[in-house]
Amino acid sequence: MAAEQTYLMVKPDGVQRGLCGDIISRFEKRGLKIVAMKFTVIKKETAENHYGEHKGKGFYDSLISYITSGPVLAMVLEGDNAVSVCRNMMGKTNPQEAPVGTIRGDFAMVTGMNLIHGSDSPESAKREISLFFRPEELVAYKRTADEWIYE
Ligand code: RTP
Ligand code: MG
Repeated sequence: MAAEQTYLMVKPDGVQRGLCGDIISRFEKRGLKIVAMKFTVIKKETAENHYGEHKGKGFYDSLISYITSGPVLAMVLEGDNAVSVCRNMMGKTNPQEAPVGTIRGDFAMVTGMNLIHGSDSPESAKREISLFFRPEELVAYKRTADEWIYE
């Protein structure tokens, strides 16, 4: 098992709808390991940095106001190929195209309220983790269940 870390965030709609528990539960049950978690309201500058790749696009302003509109649950999860495993569990950006069984496919209806963010590559994950967490906030520990999750 090559441990990879990814940055996940329950967006303000997920928090307001009381879906944090359901969402965390899916990742825990799958076998992802929680390394860090933080409940916070994102500052506008941080949101603009996080979503910098989308600056200039038509949806950019509404994306920034959406993601800063209320608290989010930010987390770092770890596991084998965690980035792609978590992206697959989230489903496509447009929830109406996300398969049933994915988070967006089960709980969301439109792209502008799609509940969850997840890093799209290991490089993005490193950048996003360092944007939202200080190094000492990532908790290193041995999880005994790992021997029943990985061969
Ligand atoms: P995220 O970054 O939030 O995990 O989502 P993603 O990779 O699936 O999608 P991305 O293309 O990175 O878009 C970031 C977020 O911007 C909003 N969006 N709106 N109206 C639109 O066409 C549109 N496209 C994207 C969504 O909130 C999307 O998750
Ligand atoms: Mg993205």
